[in-house]
Amino acid sequence: AATFGFGLLLAAGSASALTIGFSQVGSEGDWRPAFSKDMKDEAAKRNIDLKYSDAQGKEENQLKAVRSFIAQKVDAIIIAPVVVTGWDAVLKEAKAAKIPVFLADRDVDSDPSLFVTRISADFNLEGRLAGAWLAQASKGKCDVVELQGTVGSAPALQRKKGFESVTALFPDIKIVKSQSGDFTTAGGKEVAESFIKATNGFKGICAVYAHNDNMQLGAIQAMKEAGLKPGKDVLLVSVDGVPDMFRLLAAGEANASVELKSDIGKNIYDVVEAYLKGKTDFPKWVLIPSDLHTQADAAAELAKRGLK
Ligand code: AHR
Repeated sequence: AATFGFGLLLAAGSASALTIGFSQVGSEGDWRPAFSKDMKDEAAKRNIDLKYSDAQGKEENQLKAVRSFIAQKVDAIIIAPVVVTGWDAVLKEAKAAKIPVFLADRDVDSDPSLFVTRISADFNLEGRLAGAWLAQASKGKCDVVELQGTVGSAPALQRKKGFESVTALFPDIKIVKSQSGDFTTAGGKEVAESFIKATNGFKGICAVYAHNDNMQLGAIQAMKEAGLKPGKDVLLVSVDGVPDMFRLLAAGEANASVELKSDIGKNIYDVVEAYLKGKTDFPKWVLIPSDLHTQADAAAELAKRGLK
């Protein structure tokens, strides 16, 4: 019905008047609010009526939001799922109501026929890029502490798996401690403090691998408070490429970050709009590329973004 209605609107030459429900994870870290802003700005540009719902990190809030989008008979639903599990029932309800669902950023472990496609980066590749960088920087010998993202979330699961798939090739690279800091600066700081304590000031620790930059920012604070020099005494590699991380890279206080693009609203709405106009042959995954940045290119990357 939504496809037909949207087709009629276009045929009549009217401006797009789509109503889209977007269930967002929350606002942890710096990357997520940048992504939310991009989704809102891009919706406004396209005259999309975006019903935005912030789940504050709780899947139960997302399930409620999606059910409310269904009740409002929106044209499409976009979900950035907090965790991978628990989605089957609500996705089936959307399907029964003939409302197409698109996954943005994070993944689910449901039957793929319950959603149209997922538009996102390859989290496993991000982990592999981080692992390959570390293998090279440490010459294949390193005791690593790992700050994991939200337990059960696609990026935490995949960034761990990808990183380990590379470090497993190097017998002298070992993850000696690993715990979730829930993708927040405060969480990263708290876990890093406990690791610093447990290892007597990061004795023998060669690197911190954080599943996002904000946890690394927290770890950097903890290291400084413990009298350590981040980026020098310990190698630091993380994911997101947020502005503060580029600044730390440029200042030599961190070593590498894999950038996760946050300006992907255009990619997501292009897919949703094309689907509602009748295109159905989408791959199950529309890939957004990620790339690794280091101290060598951080200043240039800041300049490229008009940042200091
Ligand atoms: O799902 C992507 C991850 O979620 C980002 O890397 C992290 O910052 C966010 O919380």
